[in-house]
Amino acid sequence: MNIVIISEDRQLLQNIQTLLARTGHEIALAPGKSSELSACATDLAPDLLLLDARHRQAIDFAQIERVSLERPGMTVILLADTDSPAFLMEAMRAGVREVLPSLQPAQPLFDAVERAAAKVQAAQAMDTAKVHAFIGTSGGSGTTFLVTNFGYQLAQFHKVLLVDLNLQFGDALSYLQDGKAPRTIDDICRDIKRLDAPLLAASTIKITPNYSILAAPEEPSQATDVKPEHVAAILKLAATQYDIVLLDLPRMVDATLISALDQAASIFLVLQASVPHLRNADKLLSVFRSLDYTRDKIELIVNRYEKRSDITLDKIKRTLGPLEIHTIANGYRQVSTAINQGVPLVQLESRHGVIRNLSDLGDTVTPPADHPAGLFERLFRRA
Ligand SMILES: Nc1ncnc2c1ncn2[C@@H]1O[C@H](COP(=O)(O)OP(=O)(O)OP(=O)(O)O)[C@@H](O)[C@H]1O
Ligand SMILES: [Mg+2]
Repeated sequence: MNIVIISEDRQLLQNIQTLLARTGHEIALAPGKSSELSACATDLAPDLLLLDARHRQAIDFAQIERVSLERPGMTVILLADTDSPAFLMEAMRAGVREVLPSLQPAQPLFDAVERAAAKVQAAQAMDTAKVHAFIGTSGGSGTTFLVTNFGYQLAQFHKVLLVDLNLQFGDALSYLQDGKAPRTIDDICRDIKRLDAPLLAASTIKITPNYSILAAPEEPSQATDVKPEHVAAILKLAATQYDIVLLDLPRMVDATLISALDQAASIFLVLQASVPHLRNADKLLSVFRSLDYTRDKIELIVNRYEKRSDITLDKIKRTLGPLEIHTIANGYRQVSTAINQGVPLVQLESRHGVIRNLSDLGDTVTPPADHPAGLFERLFRRA
């Protein structure tokens, strides 16, 4: 965990650094940075911000609140020698998690640091649980249609981001709305040092209040601006900002794809019930095995499924192994109309089998609930 300590008092900074050295966390000292909290948080990306608030006038609660909102995963602890209810109330409203009266005895500080570390760990596990990758076994499997429409349906109940990682010929936006993307993923990558929640939000396109897309570059040549480490950073941040992050992935096994798959809790392999699709699915699964992705991370979506198909679900299971299988109905006319009009299918045919199947799929990606303990609970526990 990254700990950043901010104080005007260099002696205090040294003392806390010495005390916390044995915790094994990374510690950065930021003398006199309390007036530049936001820049400091962007540069140093703290998981835990320890602020010297012994001089009340050095503390700007409005700024703390802004930074806390921008970085919901970050814990803020104040060192303050007051326990006035008004001060505590203001601190709590600004998003402060704990207020420590002094450094001695040191145990409450250690306990607070370990609580923050546990929160970071839990948040990381939960954030990973929010990212779901969709990849087709063959061209035209229906990946983009399914992931764009799935996102639209999930966004009725959750805040959803779809990231189009088909960097050369990504077209996910056009399945949901007409027109060019004003901003695309490569815009972020050219400015990656500035990446933070507001930049990410400003780079997405809102399809509905709850559904955003980070679109693929407009020109194939701009794909080279997007590096694997950029993708990892964008997805890590996105997972802190959205309930669910969906990825439309190309079938190109390279460092960018692996970087995206590493961030994903589940990988949905989209195929159709045909021999070439099964053959490609088998190849992709062996790539996933070599990357150490466990079987429980991978699920199959058999698109355009028809019960009377020669290739039954049993046969698919026998060929590809015991993976979870979801099916999506065939609906050529309605699906084509939706795609050609650039609107989600549910707007045209809300009772279509495809819509019901996507709703069922939604149950498998529902995000875990987050119930962080607030300052009052902390105070209560300490009392
Ligand atoms: N459930 C479905 N029923 C009928 N047709 C479908 C279904 N899903 C997708 N299609 C059709 O399959 C075609 C390909 O879909 P889509 O573009 O989503 O595939 P893709 O896997 O993203 O392709 P690419 O490899 O080019 O990225 C579309 O024209 C669409 O009409
Ligand atoms: Mg596609």
